[in-house]
Amino acid sequence: MAKPRQVFVCRSCGGAQSRWLGKCPDCGTWDSLEAQTVDTAAGRDPQKGLVEAWSAPVALGDGGEAMVGPAPTARPLTQAGDDAQADARISTRIGELDRVLGGHPRAGLVPGSVVLVGGPPGIGKSTLMLQAAGSIAAGGSRVLYVSTEESAQQVRMRAERLGLMTGARAAGDELLILADTNLARIFEQARKTKPEVLVLDSVQMVYKSDLPASPGSVAQLRRCCAELVFLAKASGMAVLLVGHVTKEGHLAGPRLLEHLVDAVLYFEGDRYHAHRLVRGVKNRFGNTLELGIFEMTGTGLKEVPEGTGVSAAGAGAKPRPGSVVCPVMTGARCVLVELQALTATGFLGAAKRKSSGIDSNRLAMLIAVLEQHAELRLADRDIFASSVGGMRVAEPAADLAILLAIAGAHYRKALPPATAAVGEVGLGGEVRPVGQLEQRVHEAARLGYRTILVPAANADARALKAPGLEIVRVATVESAISQLA
Ligand code: TYD
Ligand code: MG
Repeated sequence: MAKPRQVFVCRSCGGAQSRWLGKCPDCGTWDSLEAQTVDTAAGRDPQKGLVEAWSAPVALGDGGEAMVGPAPTARPLTQAGDDAQADARISTRIGELDRVLGGHPRAGLVPGSVVLVGGPPGIGKSTLMLQAAGSIAAGGSRVLYVSTEESAQQVRMRAERLGLMTGARAAGDELLILADTNLARIFEQARKTKPEVLVLDSVQMVYKSDLPASPGSVAQLRRCCAELVFLAKASGMAVLLVGHVTKEGHLAGPRLLEHLVDAVLYFEGDRYHAHRLVRGVKNRFGNTLELGIFEMTGTGLKEVPEGTGVSAAGAGAKPRPGSVVCPVMTGARCVLVELQALTATGFLGAAKRKSSGIDSNRLAMLIAVLEQHAELRLADRDIFASSVGGMRVAEPAADLAILLAIAGAHYRKALPPATAAVGEVGLGGEVRPVGQLEQRVHEAARLGYRTILVPAANADARALKAPGLEIVRVATVESAISQLA
């Protein structure tokens, strides 16, 4: 008889050690190991019991057939799956969510896939999931919404506020609510009701009673998530999992969850902004550049349609020194983002450089370029740079706008009204070409901008035309700065 043994599992990466250590040797995280008891006799094949449970005829006398067929066999790829099912997707009928899930033009959830939706508390995860569940149900597909944190009554109240109970968006009887935290009972209900989509809000609260660990611990999370993945693959239902994110921005619990699931969507920004940005960070069925934009209103999350400047003050606003608008590409869509900078007197040698939504290494590089190639004296200036509205801007194409914001803040000069800027800045002080320039220029023109600074180095810059838009080609950082009034 093997006897229970104690191991130490890392909260961050899930790696197991035989003794406690201050630092995880696998991922290098400090103070992340927690003690766990494992029964060495059990769980050699973690899916063994599960396969049997799912293949067995349904107990409890409802007479239904099991949801899984015989054990899988190896066969040629060309005969795997089924042609009709190849591009089957379940649309959530929320355009912005479908966009992030990928699969254009028939975007949506892939049957049998597991999607993890992460974000800090209060950002709108439950709201979006309930709205998606309601919308899918209204489209005629059965959805089982499992709430582990709220009672069925509370979910109903929320659904009423979201307008899912009556009227055009009514979810009807295809939306089933279950308030439970026991995974076995949740599985039992899923087997009985056979939904096409299962929503589990949140994965941190479910538990399997045969594990000694508490809900939310590494052992529970890993096991529950693995079984949910198996359930999705075996039954063909799409599973949406909600996961909490810690202060540091990691999914609470092991990063392991991200490896187990097919797609990971994150809510970006913070809850003090009206806009909620949902970004795909991993997606086995689509690209991860896509961004879904929502606005939190009194009646839930509202989609922000394409072609709206998310955080830009708008073309009509009075120009401010230290503020420059840039058309940024996120996946297939172009968003106008306002980038701001502020310079203040600091101490020589200890000047602060802080950024929010902008990479700090990129900021340091742009400051060096300004010092070297535009003769700005910034060594004793504190410099703060931020992307308005909480959107993370990682594209080098935003360099020129950030640089102009810093220079403008320093000289207290603004660009002329209704002006945007786009371009990558090189270490030699040159403005380098960017991709998809035409789309950016058209988007700026459509939103009412009258002037745009573009890299002269772009091969397509000469032929560019947009109605009502003056295109100014800049080759160097200096010539861009000369545009500041
Ligand atoms: P919630 O979806 O519960 O966040 P999470 O599940 O990510 O923790 O709620 C997010 C916030 O949105 C909540 O603090 C209140 C607000 N909210 C609205 O402004 N309007 C609404 O219609 C709803 C349902 C919530
Ligand atoms: Mg919630």
